[in-house]
Amino acid sequence: MKILFIVGARPNFMKTAPVVNALKKYAGVECKICHTGQHYDAKMSDVFFKQLEISEPEYYLGVGSGSHAVQTAKIMTEIEPVLLEWKPDILVVAGDVNSTIAASLTAVKLGIRIAHIESGLRSFDRTMPEEINRILTDAISDYLFVTEISGINNLKKDGVDDSKVFFVGNCMIDTLVKFLPVIEKSDSLTQYNLKPQNYFLMTFHRPANVDNPEFLLQLSEFMKEYSGDYKIVFPVHPRTRSNMEKAGVNLNDINNLVLTEPLGYIEFMSLVKDAKVIVTDSGGIQEESTFLKVPCVTVRDNTERPVTVDVGSNYLAGTNFENVKKYVDLILSGKGKNSAIPELWDGKAGERIAEILAKE
Ligand code: UD1
Repeated sequence: MKILFIVGARPNFMKTAPVVNALKKYAGVECKICHTGQHYDAKMSDVFFKQLEISEPEYYLGVGSGSHAVQTAKIMTEIEPVLLEWKPDILVVAGDVNSTIAASLTAVKLGIRIAHIESGLRSFDRTMPEEINRILTDAISDYLFVTEISGINNLKKDGVDDSKVFFVGNCMIDTLVKFLPVIEKSDSLTQYNLKPQNYFLMTFHRPANVDNPEFLLQLSEFMKEYSGDYKIVFPVHPRTRSNMEKAGVNLNDINNLVLTEPLGYIEFMSLVKDAKVIVTDSGGIQEESTFLKVPCVTVRDNTERPVTVDVGSNYLAGTNFENVKKYVDLILSGKGKNSAIPELWDGKAGERIAEILAKE
């Protein structure tokens, strides 16, 4: 059997690697990786291949950036010849980025079965491009691999047949479990002159937030306010960096601010592990911080990962910074909640998925 894995953007790499690795022990299953090139900077892509020990992709489509239509269309036209030539039996896609839906839509029309890692998540906010990508990919998938119970319920409501839905756990957490010993040995804290629990870690890249100059201004005020007592570490996504420059938001006068380029996986996760609090609009970081039981304040109006709030260490604050401060102060006062690790986030999701796919 031939299985083609699609990766494209930063969060895809850590979700896909555990499944590729787990399939290695199944004789008769041949796997190849196709990188669409949605993310192409070394710091957004290559570093993950090296650190996560993922083999070089057999196919690289090099599509790069563009509007949603341009990026999606380029991926579709570039992937079609690959599918026609290699004729995989199953296409495995992950998450909710443009590469996920573009590759799936092309494959389904060629009669190729689709397996979706991290299926069923819903923010119920259709203004998010990722929500559209999730709904559409799930609608055409044959194997829907779910990370949390909410995903099963969402797929049920969408009328997906139970036989296609598999509650397997969380592949992103598999990668974290595997690399935790390496993360614990990383010298990132020394490198940035940080001590455990003496810094905030912040990331922002959602268009709904960072395309809004008023939001960026409030964000810089927030950093100023807390940088008296804590260091603030802020690895800046390319979109955010360019929007800050356009909006004239100047962070240079904030003491105690450590601005960095996007970081590699090991460096970043070691900063997550020892942070006092994380303030972010990311999807994946809500899950990684939950696993590490580090308090996380999510600056969004909704989350497609409700288990991180109901069970985990995540707080959903909305995009008003007064609310963000309320949660941050609660955490700093030591009165935050006791959290737990969600069901099946045990480092074995990739193995469960491999077992299911290898039987097909
Ligand atoms: C994409 C995903 C988002 C995910 C995020 C993780 C979609 C719709 N969005 O958002 O769900 O959370 O990846 O990072 O797929 N750029 C670079 N170098 C790169 C890649 C991008 O400079 O290697 C810049 C370009 O100016 C580009 C912008 O970042 O236009 C946005 O990149 P894009 O891939 O469109 O979306 P992300 O915001 O990264």
